[in-house]
This record gives sequence, C-alpha cells and structure tokens, in this order.
Amino acid sequence: MRNVELFGAVGHKFILLNESEPGEEDGVRSNQYLIVRDGSGVLLDPGGFGVMPRVLAEMLRYAKPEQIRAILLSHQDPDIVGGLSTWLELTPAEVFVSSIWMRFLPHYGLRDMSRFRGVPDEGMECEVAPGFHLRIVPAHFLHSEGQINVYDPVSRILFTGDIGAAMLPNDRDDAFVDDFATHLPFIEGFHRRYMGSNHAIRCWLDTIADLDIDMLAPQHGPIYRGRAVQDFLAWLSDLKCGIDLLEAGGRFRKA
Ligand SMILES: [Fe+2]
Ligand SMILES: [Fe+2]
Repeated sequence: MRNVELFGAVGHKFILLNESEPGEEDGVRSNQYLIVRDGSGVLLDPGGFGVMPRVLAEMLRYAKPEQIRAILLSHQDPDIVGGLSTWLELTPAEVFVSSIWMRFLPHYGLRDMSRFRGVPDEGMECEVAPGFHLRIVPAHFLHSEGQINVYDPVSRILFTGDIGAAMLPNDRDDAFVDDFATHLPFIEGFHRRYMGSNHAIRCWLDTIADLDIDMLAPQHGPIYRGRAVQDFLAWLSDLKCGIDLLEAGGRFRKA
C-alpha cells in the first residue's frame, strides 16, 4: 500500500504515510500521519526508531523538514516516541504531548525539553500557523492515562491514537474499514485488554459528541469511514474493558 491521501483540497491535505509493506516491520505495524496546510506541516505519531528513515522518505514527497511546525504524540509508547530525537534534529517542530508524560520523555534520550508543550488534561487548541488550527482532544485511559486525540476541522478527520487500532494479519493491508462487522475480530481483543474502562469510553464519547467526524484515523490498522464510523462508536459505547473485567489473580473476565 502506498501513501493514502485521506483528504485533499487546495492548500490542505491529510495524508497517511505508509512506510512499510505488510510483514516488513518487526513489532507493531503503525500509521504515521501528515497534515499540510499552506506550506506548514504537522506529524501525528511519527513512529519508532526503526521506521523513522522510511517515514521521512515518504514525508519528503509532500513537505520539507523545515516546514514541520508541530509533532503531536498521542501518548508515551515507544512505537510513537522512539524516533523523536532525530525528528527534533531535522525539524523546527514543537512537540505536543500530555503534560503527565513530559517528565518521562527524557528517558528516550531527549535532553532538550525546551520545544515540548505539555497538553493540559482538558486538551487545548493548537495554532500551528496563522489560519491552521487543530483541536487536541482528551482521551484519558484509552489506553494511556494521558492519551490525546487530534481533530482537524477542515478534513473532519479525528486522529484517535490507539482507539480503533487493529492488528491485521500480515497478508492484509486494507486502507479503510467500510464494513464494521467483518472488521470487529481484528480489534476486539485489543480493546478489551488495553482500554481503561467503559467509564473512560463514555467520557470520551461525550467529549467528541459535538465534533463533525468524517473519518476516524487510528495509529494502527485501517481508517474508519462512512457507516463504519458510527458502527464502531456504537460498539465501543457498550464495551466492558480493562478495569471493568479485572479479577483477583490477574485474570480478565471474558465479557
Ligand atoms: Fe499505545
Ligand atoms: Fe499504539
């Protein structure tokens, strides 16, 4: 699969940078996104150390490193932060991450924290450049204690981090989810075990209720569009997960 332009209008693009072939990457296959508006770029979850050179190669088709104004990190996992020190050298970007993860990031070998911006628990508006606004939306405990989503009001795409993430078999490489029922087996186990609780899900659903959403773009697996968006959200709203299912002895209840 090549890069996928999820939204393209004059002066505004939202692109899935596809750096890998199925089965090529060790660990978890992940999505990296680039938003470019009038010559300013934003990277969403640029990825781990191993994928960094290929993500850069794909990004260069659309933007130069010096055009990248912001990097947004949905949370603190190594498949997101691992390549960050190189991105900081190549770009002038500010890095947005939940304020609760700021003090842990130096352990990734990041010495200079002056370009980091801690996102408060309630989220914030991010003005990338004049006329280029993104909304940083809280998604606490889904799965990280300080998880953030990013909403682009122009493309109406919500970047959801690990919410909606799928682990597809190595021979599958679909760009989009159109039929949620057939997609469910690829997300169910992950959401039950990793997502914090149904309370966290309900809080997030209330938070995003006023957003006009055309697509949900997760950090792993295909992008939800059309009916699949509402079908996924409806399934999620009733999901018991994480703490809801935890029992003494470390077991998780099945349903
Ligand atoms: Fe994660
Ligand atoms: Fe992830």
